[in-house]
Amino acid sequence: MKNATTHWSVERLDTSIHERAEFDCGQADLNRYLKRYAGQDSRRGLSRVFVLCRQDEALVHGYYTLSAVAIGKDEESVQGTNHLPYDLIPAILIGRLGISQHQQKKGLGGVLLFDALQRCWCASKVVGVHAVIVDAKDEQASMFYQHFGFKPLTSVPNRLWLVMSSIERLIQEAQD
Ligand SMILES: CC(C)(COP(=O)(O)OP(=O)(O)OC[C@H]1O[C@@H](n2cnc3c(N)ncnc32)[C@H](O)[C@@H]1OP(=O)(O)O)[C@@H](O)C(=O)NCCC(=O)NCCS
Repeated sequence: MKNATTHWSVERLDTSIHERAEFDCGQADLNRYLKRYAGQDSRRGLSRVFVLCRQDEALVHGYYTLSAVAIGKDEESVQGTNHLPYDLIPAILIGRLGISQHQQKKGLGGVLLFDALQRCWCASKVVGVHAVIVDAKDEQASMFYQHFGFKPLTSVPNRLWLVMSSIERLIQEAQD
């Protein structure tokens, strides 16, 4: 993952700088979101959008979104994990994540996901965040997330989660 990051940077979307018109990750709704809705969702505080570009270039090759969410205690207890004393559990949702088709299978999806997890972990230092949730588009995407340790939430199709303590371990392992 470290090699893959050498010439890449991940930064907050700036609609006046980043070029999104040609972005194509193979999923029409993810492409459309980046081109049409990402800017306005960012402005309204509905999501934060981060884009992957080559260093010092504006062309977007990948992106993800982060939003605060609360997951029902029932959703989590289905998994047989901690019996937490609240009905709603604070979490961060990676709602969308995509890599442009010509850059897929080169490790960049992993780079983007790890960057998202690091930002979630940093946020958890100042706001309580129990877990990170992802919405996978399909079975293939779900397998991608499971490759990194995410577990399916059986109550919501294609929604997976990873508890913050596991994310902290992943980050520490990467630093060693
Ligand atoms: C899913 C997606 C982000 C993966 O990006 P990518 O750059 O091709 O993935 P990477 O090359 O970084 O793969 C990283 C690791 O995940 C594994 N992986 C990738 N896709 C996988 C899959 N479908 N199932 C299992 N493992 C997978 C790779 O083998 C690799 O493993 P390694 O680190 O042991 O070598 C990309 O295919 C994509 O944008 N798809 C369309 C949009 C989409 O489905 N987004 C997902 C959620 S909404």
